[in-house]
Amino acid sequence: ELCKGLNGIDKVILREVRGCSAQVYLYGGQVISWKNEYGEELLFVSSKAVFKPPKAIRGGIPICFPQFGSQGSLEQHGFARNRLWSVDPDPPPFPVNNPNKAFVDLILKHSEEDMKIWPHRYEFRLRITLGPGGDLMLTSRIRNTNTDGKSFAFTFAYHTYLAVSDISEVRVEGLETLDYLDNMKDKERFTEQGDAITFESEVDKVYLSTPTKIAILDHERKRTFVLRKDGLPDAVVWNPWDKKAKAMPDFGDDEYKHMLCVEAACVEKPIILKPDWVLVVRLTYSKWILARIFWRAEFKRAEKR
Ligand code: BG6
Repeated sequence: ELCKGLNGIDKVILREVRGCSAQVYLYGGQVISWKNEYGEELLFVSSKAVFKPPKAIRGGIPICFPQFGSQGSLEQHGFARNRLWSVDPDPPPFPVNNPNKAFVDLILKHSEEDMKIWPHRYEFRLRITLGPGGDLMLTSRIRNTNTDGKSFAFTFAYHTYLAVSDISEVRVEGLETLDYLDNMKDKERFTEQGDAITFESEVDKVYLSTPTKIAILDHERKRTFVLRKDGLPDAVVWNPWDKKAKAMPDFGDDEYKHMLCVEAACVEKPIILKPDWVLVVRLTYSKWILARIFWRAEFKRAEKR
């Protein structure tokens, strides 16, 4: 279902039989809402978010491409998150034959304008799928369509803003004992000690070579997000906390208490994608980079009070 969102920006709404839904803005190719069957919002979007170019929307799942962060010649987190994507009206069939899945394919391609800052041709196909039961899946197929034989390198992240009830009660499991780069300390490398990750101050870390499964436990809501990722070795964990929050114009002063970014990413070692010269698509990994994120929210509903 294609309709108008805030400021007249087109958005697509995906619905699932039990009432789960997701909303995707064509601006940024950005999922900005994901609701479970009780109508509860699972993603965080700031009340001060600006739904207007050229700023990226603060919340949901911005796509960081072709650069994560500020390391590189492009603007912070690349340009994909503030470009207008288009809907593919005739997407290729879903790989698994499951009619219960609602999905949409969004496309972003190089433009003459963008080639001045990033001189490569590409086609980025982002498939957003809402599975039965409300699982949300994002699949990115990035294809190098350079005609000059050149490979390109890029870094990437699904910059997911999760809604949590109280950040000080949240635990992240699956990252303990891993190495990370600390963005707050000049990207110096450290090793995480001890137990599950908990939060009591600003965090901005890139965990390296993480397992494919990461769990985010929100105690107060008795909700667990399970993230599974393929093709994306790293995971960024970010919460701006109070001081940074105040400094961000599109973020409420106290909103840091109700969000946590856990981002499936490829940051440390850029992905190098060779030009597309084989005829048969999808059979080789040199042709398609398949980066998939799979969010599942498992609910242990609180007993009736
Ligand atoms: C995170 C980065 O992914 O995004 C942080 O690790 C950054 O360093 C944050 O502050 C937000 O970035 P932006 O550009 O959306 O304000």
